[in-house]
Amino acid sequence: FSLKNYNTFSIDAKARYFVEANSVKELQEILGNNDYPRKILIGGGSNMLLTNDIDALFIHVNLKGKWIVNESDDTVSVKVMAGENWHEMVLWTLENNYGGLENMSLIPGNTGSAPIQNIGAYGVELKDSFVSCEAIRIEDLQLITLTKEECKFGYRDSYFKNEGKNKFVITSVTFSLTKNNHKINSGYGAIEEQLERDAIKNPTIKDISNAIIAIRQSKLPDPKVLGNSGSFFKNPMVSTEVFNEFISKHPEAPFYKISDLIYKIPAGWLIEKCGFKGKRFGDAGVHQHQALVLVNYDNATGKEILALASKIIEEVQNEFNITISPEVNIIK
Ligand code: EPU
Repeated sequence: FSLKNYNTFSIDAKARYFVEANSVKELQEILGNNDYPRKILIGGGSNMLLTNDIDALFIHVNLKGKWIVNESDDTVSVKVMAGENWHEMVLWTLENNYGGLENMSLIPGNTGSAPIQNIGAYGVELKDSFVSCEAIRIEDLQLITLTKEECKFGYRDSYFKNEGKNKFVITSVTFSLTKNNHKINSGYGAIEEQLERDAIKNPTIKDISNAIIAIRQSKLPDPKVLGNSGSFFKNPMVSTEVFNEFISKHPEAPFYKISDLIYKIPAGWLIEKCGFKGKRFGDAGVHQHQALVLVNYDNATGKEILALASKIIEEVQNEFNITISPEVNIIK
C-alpha cells in the first residue's frame, strides 16, 4: 500500500498493511489486535519522513467531529477529534469569532498530532489554549484524559515525546478560546509588516489569521505543490557559554533569549550561512525562501532527504560547533 498520499513529503514508501480507524472503538480494536507486531499511527502525515518500505500496520486516525463542551460569557471550550485537519478547524473557530488559535493558521497536519510536538508559530503555541486531551492508553486500551500539566509541554516538546512516547494515541483535544476581549498577538515582526502592507490598524483575530496565511504562503512551500514537512529541524537551544562564543564570532546573527541560561538560535540562519538555501541535490533540496524546510522536488526517496539532512547537520556542526536535530519523525 503506497503511503505517497498520506505523507506531506510525498515519499512513495509502502506500508505492508494499512487500516483506517473511523471511531474510538475501532481504534481500540485495532490497537488490541496482536496479529501485527509493529503498528504506526498516521494522522495528517505532516511531520514524518518515511525512509523505507515499512513492514508494519499503518493506522490512519480518521476520527472526525468538533463541538462546544462548555461556554461562559467570555470563553468557550471546544472539543476537536484527532482526525480533523488543523487549519480547517482553526478557520471554523474564526468563523465563530473564537480567539486563540489564529496565530497558528495554516500549520499542516491534524489536530490529534498537534499536542505531541506542541505546535507553534508567530509567538503562540498550542499549550496557550490547550485544556486537556483524551487518549487511548495502549497498555490497557482505556480512554483516559490528560491535563495540561500532565502533557508537560515545552518548545516543540511534550510528555508524548518523552516518558509517554509510544504509550498513547490521542483521540481528541479540548481548547479554551475567547469569545470577546481577544488577546491579539501581533508583536512578531513579520506580522506587523504584513498588517502595515494591508493597512490594518486595529487587527481582529481574522486579520491576524489572514496576515499569517499570507506570510506562510510567501515563505513556506505548499505541500500539495512541493512535498515537505514544514521545519525539518528544531531551532537549537544552547547554553550561555556556547552562545557567547557564537555571537562574538557572528554578531549579526538573530537569536532569542529564553532565560538567563539558555538562548535559541534560528537553525534556518545557520543552514543558510552554510550555503544550503535553495540548493538542490537530485530531487532533494533546501527551500529557497526558508532554509529550515527540506523539500521533495519530485521523486526523492526518504533516504535521499535523510542524507541531505545528515550533511546539513554535519556542516552546521563544523561551521558553528552547534548541534541541530530533526523536528520530524524519521521512520525506518
Ligand atoms: N532565517 C534565515 N534564513 C532562513 C530562515 C530563517 O536567516 O532561511 C532567519 C530569519 O531571518 C529570522 C530567523 O531566522 O531572523 C527566524 O526565522 P523565522 O521567523 O522564519 O522562523 P524560524 O525560527 O525559522 C519558526 C518555526 C516555524 C514557524 C516560525 C514562525 C521552528 C522549528 N520553526 O521558524 O514553524 O512558522 O518560527 O513562528 O520553531 C514548523 O514547525 O513547521 C514551522 C514552519
